[in-house]
Amino acid sequence: MRVVFLGPPGAGKGTQARILHERFGLEQISTGDLLRRNCVEQTELGRQAEGYMARGELVPDGLVIAMIERELRRLPTGFVMDGFPRNVVQAEALDALLARRGWPLDAAILFTADRPTLIARLASRWTNPRNGRTYNVLTNPPKVAGIDDDDAGELVQRDDDRAETVATRLDVYDAQTRPLIEYYRKTGKLVDVNALASVEAVAERIAAAIGTTHVPGARW
Ligand code: AP5
Repeated sequence: MRVVFLGPPGAGKGTQARILHERFGLEQISTGDLLRRNCVEQTELGRQAEGYMARGELVPDGLVIAMIERELRRLPTGFVMDGFPRNVVQAEALDALLARRGWPLDAAILFTADRPTLIARLASRWTNPRNGRTYNVLTNPPKVAGIDDDDAGELVQRDDDRAETVATRLDVYDAQTRPLIEYYRKTGKLVDVNALASVEAVAERIAAAIGTTHVPGARW
């Protein structure tokens, strides 16, 4: 099974990708997490990407596509991509990379949510920078405030979750990523999932959506 998650910042893509990984063993590729790790480690890619990320803009396509190409070399045939593709150039590059391997995409899941909800979710998100796990102080708090339930690491707020950067990220989504909805609708693989529900209810919607588009014989 090969799935991409589309949707605005704060819609819950990372949360649900992690659930697919934990419940079904599907490999999770989050371009945001990969890029943030490169920034922390101050790799060449991280140094090139950090300014764009701090401003809430997309990192240049060439850098991100090369990173995905490297990831695909180590991946099993099944995966969920969270945060890629982000525009039509990236979607076409992904199609070409998958076609070369004979791995068609099974579904593109579109998370929908209204802007006030997205802003509220991002303002109350806390993240473990070491493993990318997220919490929400309003809807999904950790057992001990500021501490990851899993590894007891300190939780932080992402720099790009500041109000002015969130506004830019939402505008960038509308201008650059929204056109992908039509791109994937034309393929017949787009599935709309209303993300305005509890984490568990959204997980159930995704499981049902993937079930309906699941290609027999494809690997979970
Ligand atoms: P990235 O990290 O991908 O950020 P994003 O797409 O903006 O998405 P988020 O991680 O903010 O939100 P999410 O939908 O994953 O929500 P989450 O599950 O955390 O990208 C960051 C930056 O990297 C970009 O701005 C760009 O610069 C660069 N980048 C990344 N990919 C790129 C690419 N392909 N090309 C170019 N540049 C790229 O949930 C949010 C909060 O809500 C959490 O607190 C969570 O607990 C809570 N929550 C989740 N679901 C629910 C629910 N159902 N009900 C209530 N609360 C919920």
